[in-house]
Amino acid sequence: MKHKKIITLLVTLAVFGLFIFGIAACQPTAPTAAPATAVPATPAPVEPTTPPEPELTGDPIRGGLLYDQWWAVLEVDAPEGDQALWATQSTNTRSGKDSWRCKECHGWDYKGVDGAYGSGSHKTGFVGVFASKDKPASEVLTALQGGANPDHDFSAVMSEQDLTDLALFITTSLIDDSALINADKTSTGDKVAGQEKYESVCIKCHGPKGNAINFDSMEEPEFLGHVAPDNPWEFVHKVRFGQPGWPMPSGIVNEWSDQDVANVLAFVQGFTSDAALSDGGQLYDKWWGVLGVEPPAENNPLWATQTTNERTGKDTWRCKECHGWDYKGKDGVYASGSHATGFPGILESASLSSEELLAWLNGGKNPDHDFSGVMEDYALNALVAFIQNEMTDSTPYVNADGTVNGDPAKGKTMFEATCAACHGVDGKKINFGTDAEPEFFGTVAADNPWEFFHKAGLGQPGEPMPRGLALGWTLEQIADLLAYAQTLPTK
Ligand code: HEC
Ligand code: HEC
Ligand code: HEC
Ligand code: HEC
Repeated sequence: MKHKKIITLLVTLAVFGLFIFGIAACQPTAPTAAPATAVPATPAPVEPTTPPEPELTGDPIRGGLLYDQWWAVLEVDAPEGDQALWATQSTNTRSGKDSWRCKECHGWDYKGVDGAYGSGSHKTGFVGVFASKDKPASEVLTALQGGANPDHDFSAVMSEQDLTDLALFITTSLIDDSALINADKTSTGDKVAGQEKYESVCIKCHGPKGNAINFDSMEEPEFLGHVAPDNPWEFVHKVRFGQPGWPMPSGIVNEWSDQDVANVLAFVQGFTSDAALSDGGQLYDKWWGVLGVEPPAENNPLWATQTTNERTGKDTWRCKECHGWDYKGKDGVYASGSHATGFPGILESASLSSEELLAWLNGGKNPDHDFSGVMEDYALNALVAFIQNEMTDSTPYVNADGTVNGDPAKGKTMFEATCAACHGVDGKKINFGTDAEPEFFGTVAADNPWEFFHKAGLGQPGEPMPRGLALGWTLEQIADLLAYAQTLPTK
């Protein structure tokens, strides 16, 4: 990786610099020392010099991600219980894993009590780390190993290399973002220049309005239009370093200047905080995955009215299991095969009024078709919105034999811009199946193009996957993507 090399070089230069500086510092003493050498027998006492700093090699970008949320980077479970120093403060009432994030104690602006966390619910009174940027990296490393305070020892949860990356992050990559962010949280940057940068990188995943990925729950969604105005310091940190655990690009790696970051912030601060989609499509797919609740263990009461589909338990509660990925029920793909139930489709229901649709979902029409016990009103309303506005007919794009009317060349561009970051260029980076029976991007596209069509437009329940319809894609474009996906390996 390019930035790793640069840092090694920088550290080497710094050590070399110290060496040069050492020589230069010695020089003035040389002439004055010269006359004193009249007695050659006694050599001038050699002044004890501090040994040069050991060279630390590592990745400060990774360090910046660790600073944000180290366990997401390391793909380990977050620690349970509070960090030892947490008990020495009482103003921040969070507990558990949050108390282990460097940013929770030292701030997104690195200034701790002297910065944005000087007040508000995140206030701890703890110091910032900004002053540590001028320390030797080895001293910061020692501080992270508990050298200065045994309660500030992270070596039980992170390796020496992890801590070294953190030390290099602190000593090489901190910026004073008060030059980028005004006191009222607005950006000092230029929106027009920011738009160009945003559209060259961010739009691929976050969409033209920044709401293609939801960072929080369905009930309280969080989009770029929330983060940028509310927490510009977090925004700046994440744009420079990336998002822990996800392949979001780092501005530093992409050689963005601090000004570029401020410009993007200025542009994004003008975004809407409204959702692009209702999320009802994801509820239709697997509502408990979206809501983060336990699915029912018993069969859905309507299940007993059919005998052809032999699944049991939670599967019987998925809308898609009874009505199909193509929304056509017994008149579509689920007319036959192991998913056949004989239940009707809902494609025609798009023309029903909201009241009628709600009556369908809360048992008003059929007491056995009642989802009000497992979903709150906001979720039922989202399903209504999905059926009325976001449910699309894939018939013109996906043929009955599963082939697709789309342009794979156009789809390739879309895939490589947006999907490949997580799914890999061959679509095999994430396995949705098991080791024995792997299921990849290409497998879903080939075996179940209707499911693919649904998910590419509406997203994956519970995952921060960009939603094609929120990226502004047309159904035709989704078909192009699907046509390309069908060329990818299936195993
Ligand atoms: C629970 C709160 C808390 C967490 C989490 C925390 N720190 Fe600290 N940190 C402190 C406090 C308090 C100090 C003040 C000095 C001390 O008591 O060690 C400090 C001091 C520091 C210093 C200055 C050391 C010095 O000797 O001047 C650095 C650098 C630092 N922390 C970096 C980090 C990094 C990197 C992380 C994440 C791995 C981290 N801290 C996590 C509370 C925390
Ligand atoms: C390859 C896709 C991808 C690209 C490109 C991308 N991001 Fe992200 N971004 C993500 C993902 C995934 C998340 C994490 C969502 C989560 O954890 O819930 C995220 C999270 C974020 C967050 C954090 C939100 C939070 O509160 O946790 C910010 C801010 C952000 N992105 C800004 C940007 C900006 C600005 C750009 C352009 C410089 C960008 N992203 C480019 C995929 C991407
Ligand atoms: C266990 C199978 C099953 C599940 C799960 C299921 N449905 Fe149904 N659904 C049916 C059956 C059967 C009917 C027709 C019932 C009747 O005529 O009384 C129906 C009817 C409907 C209708 C009315 C169709 C019309 O216009 O006549 C809508 C809309 C609907 N379902 C939406 C949903 C949604 C949204 C979900 C997910 C929350 C869902 N269904 C889950 C079996 C199911
Ligand atoms: C930020 C990362 C990320 C990006 C970008 C992304 N995905 Fe995903 N995708 C995931 C995750 C995580 C899963 C769920 C994996 C699992 O459940 O095992 C997933 C699952 C899927 C599935 C469902 C597989 C199944 O059987 O459940 C499909 C289809 C899919 N993605 C399509 C796409 C398409 C199309 C794109 C590009 C528009 C895309 N993804 C971009 C992260 C991503």
